[in-house]
Amino acid sequence: MPDAAALGLARGLPLPELKRLPLERKDGALQGCLSAAAVSLPLLPGTPATAFWAYNDSVPGPAIELSEGETLALRFDNRLPQPTTVHWHGLPIPADQDGNPHDPVLPGQGRDYRFSLPTGSAGSYWYHPHPHGHTAEQVYRGLAGVFVVRGRDDPLAHLPERWLVLSDLKLGEDGKIAANSDADKMDGREGQFVLVNGAWHPRLELGRGERQRWRIWNATSARVLKLALPAHEVWLVGTDGGLIEKPRRVESLVLPPGARAELAVTGRFAAGKPAGLVALPYARGKMMGPEQDKALPLLDIEAGSAAVTASLPASLRRIDPLPKPSVTRRVVFSEDMANSAAMFLINGKTFDMDRMDFTGKVGAVEEWEVDNRADMDHPFHLHGTQFQVTERHDGKGWRREPYLAWRDVVNVPPAQKVRLRFRQDMPGPRMFHCHILEHEEAGMMGTLDVRA
Ligand code: C2O
Ligand code: CU
Ligand code: CU
Repeated sequence: MPDAAALGLARGLPLPELKRLPLERKDGALQGCLSAAAVSLPLLPGTPATAFWAYNDSVPGPAIELSEGETLALRFDNRLPQPTTVHWHGLPIPADQDGNPHDPVLPGQGRDYRFSLPTGSAGSYWYHPHPHGHTAEQVYRGLAGVFVVRGRDDPLAHLPERWLVLSDLKLGEDGKIAANSDADKMDGREGQFVLVNGAWHPRLELGRGERQRWRIWNATSARVLKLALPAHEVWLVGTDGGLIEKPRRVESLVLPPGARAELAVTGRFAAGKPAGLVALPYARGKMMGPEQDKALPLLDIEAGSAAVTASLPASLRRIDPLPKPSVTRRVVFSEDMANSAAMFLINGKTFDMDRMDFTGKVGAVEEWEVDNRADMDHPFHLHGTQFQVTERHDGKGWRREPYLAWRDVVNVPPAQKVRLRFRQDMPGPRMFHCHILEHEEAGMMGTLDVRA
């Protein structure tokens, strides 16, 4: 696999800003156009073009930003050689607008997506394809973009923001995006490059003492990223579904595939500590050794001029704990390595579009116990709502989750269990699956049918 030197990639170019999707206010909605098509783009200015699949010719796709209470009306055109859908990962929107595999958009066809963003939905989301059998490929070829919902009263609105999309790029010997190997299909794909906003190892400037709000997306297929900013002061302020109740000081943060975090980062530039953003070694389960023995540098940070440190409010938002569930269910992840047709299982089965695995009710609080009996980490994801993790079992005993947060992805390491609660506020089929996209594609997915 060609490395950075072979491709002539230079480290330390300025961090690219994400392109924005132009939206026009019309007929009570913000209207825009999105297409998915093949495109050739240079990996970096001056390097040879790579064939990607992209939304609106950009990798990552254009960022979409709206406020709570607004409606998005989007015209989507599929110019790919495969069926696709646009899934709005994490957003509480109607099931028939959520890009389920049951609603494919065929090559050469289009459709309109339309949904409103309810009060309380402020947070960091993303969009990506979800067609049956092609999700992993379409994402690793470049189809993914971010979606931010602004709150009406945002206690962190005074902080300058950075949006960082972490994605994986695997090129073959020919310099083209490589297809998934058998090992990728098993362990999940990891390329030789982790990109930030589509660039390899870029650089940004942070003032000494300056406090910024960072939104970070793990848009890789399979990497569990243990992120750290060793020199700086870092507070976790938000998860997938928006702000947590109070800032929490963190030394590192495990972000599984599909998950997001909001951080308040203050530039400290301590002597002897690397100034950048790194991924610390993390072993995804028993069958694999440490992914790397050294920290993987992702982003360089350069000291800017001294700044006054903006305040960080002691309380950010109130989150009410979900009440006792009226339904409890179990979801067991397992692997059957001897059966190549059905290797990754949920409750002993692989995904079947025509089967509803569970039937639920609008407004009912459910508690799910996700039990990983397999040999590697499997990040659990549920569509259509946000959940609260209540307890985790590390193999020895249950431990209460130390703080309330809204999430739609939670990592479950091997021989561990997680209990989570949620409510679905809209009817329709909702997918749940492992967010290692190769596992999802291999069938580690089920459907919750929510009835009115
Ligand atoms: Cu981000 Cu069902 O996916
Ligand atoms: Cu999703
Ligand atoms: Cu998995």
